Amino acid sequence: MVTAAGPLDPSSVDLSMDFAGLSLPHPVMVASGCFAYGEPYARFFDLRALAGIATKGISPAPRAGNPVPRIWETAAGMLNSIGLENVGAEVFLREKLPFLADLGVSVWVNFFGEDFDAYVACARALDRGKDRIDVLEMNVSCPNIQKGGIEFGMVPEVAHDLVRACVAVTDIPIVVKLSPNAQDNVAIADAVRSAGAVGVSLINTVTGMAIDVRTRRPRLATTYGGLSGPAIKPIALRIVHQVHRALPDLPICGMGGIRTGEDALEFVLAGARCIQIGTANFAEPTVALRVLDELRRLCAELGIARLADVVGDVRPWPAEPAWKEARV
Ligand code: FUM
Repeated sequence: MVTAAGPLDPSSVDLSMDFAGLSLPHPVMVASGCFAYGEPYARFFDLRALAGIATKGISPAPRAGNPVPRIWETAAGMLNSIGLENVGAEVFLREKLPFLADLGVSVWVNFFGEDFDAYVACARALDRGKDRIDVLEMNVSCPNIQKGGIEFGMVPEVAHDLVRACVAVTDIPIVVKLSPNAQDNVAIADAVRSAGAVGVSLINTVTGMAIDVRTRRPRLATTYGGLSGPAIKPIALRIVHQVHRALPDLPICGMGGIRTGEDALEFVLAGARCIQIGTANFAEPTVALRVLDELRRLCAELGIARLADVVGDVRPWPAEPAWKEARV
């Protein structure tokens, strides 16, 4: 779609976005688990160019994660079973948060617990950083841990009660990161919204497996892991689109296989107000800068003067068959 006005000067394109009252200069963030706590990437580029950083998931106490091997590269992405290794809330607040806060970008702290009470304890502990944390990104979608994670994101009532309990103990806005493995993503999104979440992050990884035919062992020590990267982008777009169509006022942060400006624009058209780049950071640490530049140029080329105007603006085919609605 090129507007009647035709291509624009890229520098004139307004990429700013409002996400649940959070003003972002543009929509390009980096995703939890793919950017550590920020600092290791500072030697590759000026991190202040980012709209925001989502940290590795934080638990109340430190965790060593799963046994190795816990990463396997696939044809179009990556399987991981890290097991939410992290430094724990206390060390995070003391040693990691100051660096992130000084950047001046939006700080999203991903968090989780091994059970109901641990989620609430973690939200309460992280609230001590409320002056420097913009969003608590609540992870109810990790497929790689035996207790906690995805089990809280599969049933709407369970997710609702947990989010409500966490919202009650913190002043920091909560965005809930959901799993593509849930049966009804719209129902889960609606449940967490009604419990007080200000938005949702869509999507976490898709459960998968790879096998070494020579040893006949799974490629991951935990057998199954989470698939990310370009292979899951169509799934992510479908879920963002479904949730946005059902709940148009619920802010969505979109992610899953983004590695170009065109990918980012697809997510915005599907309904995302910001996007996170994950797996691509491992192969190209400066990918976010390139995506941002490509997005700006693409908007200019297509005559999109203000990106916020096209959130959710994917156009249906005139004769979209009714069965599509029924089968997904
Ligand atoms: O295993 C992991 O640390 C993955 C976390 C996640 O997908 O949220």
